[in-house]
Amino acid sequence: PTQSSVDINGASYKTDSWFNTPPNIIANVPRRLHLQKDHPVYVTRQIIESVFPAPTYKYHNTFDPVVTTHQNFDSLGFPLDHPGRAKSDTYYVNESTLLRTHTSAHQADLFRANLSPGYLISADVYRRDEVDRSHYPVFHQMEGARSWDRANALGGDVAAAVWSDLEKLPTHAMKVEDPNPPFHAERNPLQDDHHSAAEAEAIGAHLKRSLELMVVEIFSRAARAAKRADPDFVDEPLRVRWVEAYFPFTSPSWELEVYYGGDWLEVLGCGVVKQDLYINAGVPNQLGWAFGIGLERIAMLLFQIPDIRLFWSQDPRFSNQFVGVSDNLDSLKRFVPFSKYPGCYKDVSFWLKSTSAAGGSTKANAHDFHENDLMEIVRSVCGDVVEDAKVVDDFTHPKTGRRSLCYRINYRSLERTLTNTETNELHDRLTQALVEKLGVEIR
Ligand code: PHE
Repeated sequence: PTQSSVDINGASYKTDSWFNTPPNIIANVPRRLHLQKDHPVYVTRQIIESVFPAPTYKYHNTFDPVVTTHQNFDSLGFPLDHPGRAKSDTYYVNESTLLRTHTSAHQADLFRANLSPGYLISADVYRRDEVDRSHYPVFHQMEGARSWDRANALGGDVAAAVWSDLEKLPTHAMKVEDPNPPFHAERNPLQDDHHSAAEAEAIGAHLKRSLELMVVEIFSRAARAAKRADPDFVDEPLRVRWVEAYFPFTSPSWELEVYYGGDWLEVLGCGVVKQDLYINAGVPNQLGWAFGIGLERIAMLLFQIPDIRLFWSQDPRFSNQFVGVSDNLDSLKRFVPFSKYPGCYKDVSFWLKSTSAAGGSTKANAHDFHENDLMEIVRSVCGDVVEDAKVVDDFTHPKTGRRSLCYRINYRSLERTLTNTETNELHDRLTQALVEKLGVEIR
């Protein structure tokens, strides 16, 4: 890209050599699916909000997706060499400006503003990623946090009022597997400069019970929807478990997994907020928890939506199925798929461009290839007409060290049958773009 400025959502930004955001991504910025009444992403937001009620929790749903690297990474303690900062993973506008990769980009600002004891942020987030039925480069997240103030405590301990609040744990009847200790010196440390063991435990328990309650609410709504469609439907007992995790801005940290369709599915990340965030935000007396959850993944379970591209579809056969749900959540119905149009696989095999010094005869060749770059070319050339793209062969020549890859591209539109000519043309254009943009040599 050689342009020197770009318009995003009505504002103009200077670009530089970091600019790597293609027009098809920028075109999605105004869609804001979490604000489109009756859209499954909107309905999922509504249901989660109902578990975290105002005024304790204040809702923020219109934060702009263009943020600084400081907001998205530095303010959260991401190290300079964190892979998430790479151009291969993130859409940059310029060196210090990007499309947020997560709603945590707004944590520090909200702690500083200190508007309410808790908050929920819903927003579109952007990640360069693979192409398949559960990944799309734009998706929606909800971030939640709850803080307490210990300013009036004696001896630095949490005040009695805070304790009684923390001990008012949300309750539910679901069985939860939580095999790990509340914190662990190596794997999942307590912030012992800032929190007593009892404080970290109390915050962790409040966090876990609150999120479990949310999961109960979502899955009981999903089961009721299934029963409305089929009175004989028997829901399997819900299985959920906590696993230890790592995030630069929480400690201890966890992920919540739900057993679904034979697999453990990760549904959210969370933890006890790193005290440095509160300190840097000018509210050193606060302590609390935060979580982040992907809304599409939950909406896919709730509505039984099989392909993430459907959320972006403007086809009335999609949107008409949800009319009125926002006003009456008890009318929530499962999505009834319209017939799947035939798909068509095409392979593309190529030799990677070698980046090793010329003349090196014995050393293996070095290759500067990021799969996400290929995925992006697929998206730019073919739009939503590719269901997925997967590597099917990866070969390094034993003598020359040259490496070749073969990708299988699955062409299938959600809206119509693709003609042979159309698919061939797309595949030719894709092949051409791979040669031009990645410098590969077609085999
Ligand atoms: N932002 C994290 C992610 O996108 C999720 C998270 C939010 C984790 C808040 C902890 C606290 O993966």
